[in-house]
Amino acid sequence: MDLQDIKVRAENEIKSASNQQELKKILQKYLGKDGEITAVLHSLKDLSVEEKRRLGQEANDLKSDLIKEINNQEMLLAEKELNEIENKTDIDITIPARPAKIGHLHPITQVKNKIVEIFANLGFEVAEGPEAETEWYNFDALHIPKDHPARDMWDTFWLKSKREKLLLRTHTSSVQVRFMEKYLPPIKIIAPGRIFRYEATDPSHEINFYQLEGLMIDKNITLTDLKGVIEKFFQAFFGQEVEIRLRPSFFPFTEPGVEVDIKCMLCKGKGCSVCSQRGWIEMGGAGMVHPEVLKAVKLNPKEWQGFAFGMGLDRLAMMKYKVNDIRIFYGGDIRFLEQF
Ligand code: FA5
Repeated sequence: MDLQDIKVRAENEIKSASNQQELKKILQKYLGKDGEITAVLHSLKDLSVEEKRRLGQEANDLKSDLIKEINNQEMLLAEKELNEIENKTDIDITIPARPAKIGHLHPITQVKNKIVEIFANLGFEVAEGPEAETEWYNFDALHIPKDHPARDMWDTFWLKSKREKLLLRTHTSSVQVRFMEKYLPPIKIIAPGRIFRYEATDPSHEINFYQLEGLMIDKNITLTDLKGVIEKFFQAFFGQEVEIRLRPSFFPFTEPGVEVDIKCMLCKGKGCSVCSQRGWIEMGGAGMVHPEVLKAVKLNPKEWQGFAFGMGLDRLAMMKYKVNDIRIFYGGDIRFLEQF
């Protein structure tokens, strides 16, 4: 067999191969098990030693040359293919990358952080409690006995639990009890947190919302201290003087109890859907901590007194940002959230 003839044919075929598949076939044709060069190498055994050495050398040289050429052609084809893909697509690698979208804190969280900062400046520390609460901390210890009509003030989501009766806390007042059980007075805390109520929703009511509890226990504390703290807080929070009023009210865990209203900042007191046309909006309940609550946490009411308040954090956010429907906070509408 003429090696020179094989060389010419093989090289021509390699050069004109237009894809990997064809190259593979050429490899088989010349160097495979039944390939032409393989056949030459097999035939050597019948030749003289001299001839065997010469032809063997030539055949092996041709074999490695062809492998090299096949590899080269393979690389050329791959490069060509890549160029074709690049030319075909519309990707412009010179365009600057789009800036990454970075989110921000939810407006309610922003308001919570601001409130924590203001109260920290007034010397209050932050306390926390669980959202799934026991009946004892949410009601009994707060002087709201079972079957007492006062319980109806807080429409409750009860949880199915095998051991203790559990519920989704209806207010942050449960944290008052938990904290007083653990720490001795003087106490100055706020407890911002999420709470739940089984009630109908409207522009100022949600079933899931946030409250801000406040508690101060010391000696000789009076309602005047409460008013002073609340006024200072509103002023810092809204960055302006805010008209507030305390209305007598009833909470089983306070004596006396009051309702804290501020003049509606959305309608400036004229009356709107948020303030139910009253001109004033209820921001929270407050009062002097009831002696029975102090007794429940083993404090002597003759020695220690204090005030507590619980405000609607969402309502504070609504007033600050002039949002006329609490439900928007929880709707997940990015167009609303992006404004903060
Ligand atoms: C309470 O929850 C008492 N724990 C507050 C308290 C604490 C009184 C300490 C005395 C001493 P009330 O149910 O009124 O009270 O709720 C307090 C505030 O939470 C309301 O004034 C209002 O601002 C807000 N709030 C109540 N219900 C809702 C609701 N469904 N959606 C949004 N905010 C609400």
